[in-house]
Amino acid sequence: MKAFILDRYGSADGVRAGEMPVPHLQENDVLVQIHAAGVNVLDSKIRNGEFKSFLRYRLPIILGHDVAGVVVGVGSRVRRFKPGDEVYARPADGRIGGFAEFIAIAEDDVAIKPKALTMEEAASIPLVGLTGWQALIERANLKRGQSVLIHAGSGGVGTFAIQLAKHAGATVATTTSAVNAGLVRSLGADVVIDYHKDDFAQVLRDYDVVLQSVDKVTLEKSLRVLKPGGQLISVSGPPDAAFARTIGAPWILRMVMGALSYGIKTKARRRHVNYSFLFMRANGRQLTEITSLIDDGIIRPVVDRVFPFASTKEAMTYVEAGRAKGKVVVSLK
Ligand SMILES: NC(=O)c1ccc[n+]([C@@H]2O[C@H](COP(=O)([O-])OP(=O)(O)OC[C@H]3O[C@@H](n4cnc5c(N)ncnc54)[C@H](OP(=O)(O)O)[C@@H]3O)[C@@H](O)[C@H]2O)c1
Repeated sequence: MKAFILDRYGSADGVRAGEMPVPHLQENDVLVQIHAAGVNVLDSKIRNGEFKSFLRYRLPIILGHDVAGVVVGVGSRVRRFKPGDEVYARPADGRIGGFAEFIAIAEDDVAIKPKALTMEEAASIPLVGLTGWQALIERANLKRGQSVLIHAGSGGVGTFAIQLAKHAGATVATTTSAVNAGLVRSLGADVVIDYHKDDFAQVLRDYDVVLQSVDKVTLEKSLRVLKPGGQLISVSGPPDAAFARTIGAPWILRMVMGALSYGIKTKARRRHVNYSFLFMRANGRQLTEITSLIDDGIIRPVVDRVFPFASTKEAMTYVEAGRAKGKVVVSLK
């Protein structure tokens, strides 16, 4: 099958279009013919070797963390899916490979695709949708009447998280460029801060939650907008010891991650707020809940650009530039 293959860590030169065998189906797997694949910053970070310490891939691998397509085969123990089902998924770490014609995914990581969405729209959802869910619902336990600051509201994570937070009943503030103010308002943002012009830390006070996905300066400033007991949840680092324990990292990595987050954790403690790092994970059950929200018209996808499959490397470069409005997808049609 055709695929985009990572041969060596480093730069875009390490990725090439080539042929790979169709993946072997294990007893709990579904084999999906991929119609569209979402492109994430994570693909480039893995390609650059940034996550080598805890995502121990043996190269070559196929990149790609988001897929939508049709089930064409099921393992002997699969009960919830059958050939012909239209599905979408964020395959588990260690089993990625969305930039290809086929992928084998554990049944537990797959969900039925939202009915009204095209394959391209569906492929834009899983990774950012699960990130929003795991940050705002699972970890922050966001409740009606609470307030949340979502950084980079016009990005992949932000466009989903704003809608989810509104559905939870929260007041939502977000940072974005003036040009994207209309987009984030249309998604439900109540307070829109142009980060080029205004300092969010001067404007916002007593927030319950911050979802952080940008740089270190923004991370530290975010502490100031939280009320005592508030939560700063970062998906862009630094990783902490709790995360290291979750992934069963060896003690040396636990020490390193503990050291990396020592500064922000200490500053958070002084302000009586909590800092934690989140690294999203595959979860078909949560993705099924997301399907319902999309089917009910509560959340909609925001797709910036669709590239042809042959242009997957260009799609990655576009995402790396950091200016995407919503998601970038490659189509295998
Ligand atoms: N740990 C995890 O599980 C996890 C999961 C998902 C994502 N992430 C990480 O989270 C980060 C964001 O991911 P993403 O998919 O949302 O990225 P993305 O879609 O590529 O983000 C692009 C958007 O970010 C905005 N932006 C850039 N700098 C900004 C700033 N300083 N303030 C406000 N907005 C800013 C841009 O708007 P302008 O053009 O207006 O600047 C653009 O719309 C990445 O580092 C990614 O690796 C982590």
